[in-house]
Amino acid sequence: MSEEKRAFIECDNLVKLYKSDEVEVMALAGMDLWVEEGELLAVIGKSGSGKSTLLNMLGGLEQPSAGRLYVDGKDLFSFSSKQLGIYRKNTVGFVWQNSGRNLFFYMTAEENIKAVIRNKTGKEKQERAEYLLNRVGLSGKAKSFPSQLSGGEQQRVAIAVALANEPKLLLADEPTGAVDEKTAKQIQELFYSLNEELHVTIIIVTHDLSLADRVKRVVMISDGKIGTEKIMREAYQEKLRAVEGKEFSLEDREVSHDEYAVLDRSGRVQLSEAVREAAGISSKKVKITVEQGQVVIKGE
Ligand SMILES: Nc1ncnc2c1ncn2[C@@H]1O[C@H](COP(=O)(O)OP(=O)(O)OP(=O)(O)O)[C@@H](O)[C@H]1O
Ligand SMILES: [Mg+2]
Repeated sequence: MSEEKRAFIECDNLVKLYKSDEVEVMALAGMDLWVEEGELLAVIGKSGSGKSTLLNMLGGLEQPSAGRLYVDGKDLFSFSSKQLGIYRKNTVGFVWQNSGRNLFFYMTAEENIKAVIRNKTGKEKQERAEYLLNRVGLSGKAKSFPSQLSGGEQQRVAIAVALANEPKLLLADEPTGAVDEKTAKQIQELFYSLNEELHVTIIIVTHDLSLADRVKRVVMISDGKIGTEKIMREAYQEKLRAVEGKEFSLEDREVSHDEYAVLDRSGRVQLSEAVREAAGISSKKVKITVEQGQVVIKGE
């Protein structure tokens, strides 16, 4: 184990319990997740499955309840709330669905970016803001207030703000949830190109399954655990490279990725409802046999 390459993000058996007066909700129920440095990962899953909770843990916004969580070699579990605050500022950039949470409405695009840059002179802040606005395609909108920008433009500014302090990890929670399909595609493209150019590790939570077309790895959370994982096929990656820069319209979406069930460290695997239904498994017990090197799971 000691020779194993350490991942940029490592969640082992991560648990998050929310307790309110009488109810306890297990938002993360023993999640295992590894993410390599520089990866672009999409996270999908039903409402309430734990996607935002995972992002909150990764971003140091809240403390997990149990398990292990390492980001960039740092044990987030051992952090005090002050240390978590430092980690949040230095390592993470956030983009939220609601642009009101991303931007100060009384500041221009440029001011929003400059306001969050730390440890730089005024001139350096100005230069960085200009660079970032240019990078997200909004050079001409430096002096615009959020209310003067479209939803898509506001999200671009939000991405620039999130990148202001050169974070190693960019977390986006449904960043295209509030814009139309065309704008969503453009924002997605921006994430892909930033990932390639800046090698920043990006995790995007999305409801939009079409996003999965372009992301090499997509994990699906169900009930607070990683249920399945989809990996893009090599042949599809080649097709993508071939159409790079052109209007994107690949038809065979369904064969873009191979889907895998994920084994946890103890070898447990989750059978989705769809799989159980298709295999006619209705009881709680299954028979597991190995036949000619294949694991066969049968209902009673
Ligand atoms: N602060 C909180 N206090 C109590 N329960 C919470 C809190 N935050 C989340 N939960 C609960 O934890 C579970 C997971 O919530 P989470 O917000 O992570 O889901 P999600 O996958 O992001 O859903 P959505 O797609 O609707 O955004 C839900 O049952 C939710 O009600
Ligand atoms: Mg959410």
